[in-house]
Amino acid sequence: MDILTIDIEEQNAILRQKSEKVKEIDQALIDYMDHMVEVIKGSGIGLAAPQVGRNERFFVVQIEEDKPLYFINPEIIGTSEGLSSYEEGCLSIPGVYGDIKRPDSIQVQAWNRRGRPFTMEAEGLMATCIQHEFDHLNGILFMDHLSDRKKEKLLKKYMKLVESL
Ligand code: NI
Repeated sequence: MDILTIDIEEQNAILRQKSEKVKEIDQALIDYMDHMVEVIKGSGIGLAAPQVGRNERFFVVQIEEDKPLYFINPEIIGTSEGLSSYEEGCLSIPGVYGDIKRPDSIQVQAWNRRGRPFTMEAEGLMATCIQHEFDHLNGILFMDHLSDRKKEKLLKKYMKLVESL
């Protein structure tokens, strides 16, 4: 399972696409999501399907070790007025980070690993992470929330990093 990055044009095109709803939650999908959880161990706290080349609406989040959360066809149904800022990074733009302001608590609805619908309230880092992953399903990357100037700076930094590898 390879993680797509924005410096490769064809991969960026996939990352920038709006994803389609999952039609059926079957064992193959669950196995695939289990694998995604394994892939991010030690390197990230969330991974969305477009990042591994599938333009489908699902992602995994693992903030607490061995407590992965599975979100299939998620919808954010409520957001707080209060915002909080976190330094975000992304496995599709590795090595660069930016402070992003987002609602500090949200209500999300999705289907879980057992194919059952659930609703959850999330706050703090969990809320940020879910919003970040949810954005991926709509082709949005964290840097899109920065001002044009900051986004340009971050992109330049990232391209320099890529060239130095
Ligand atoms: Ni990301």
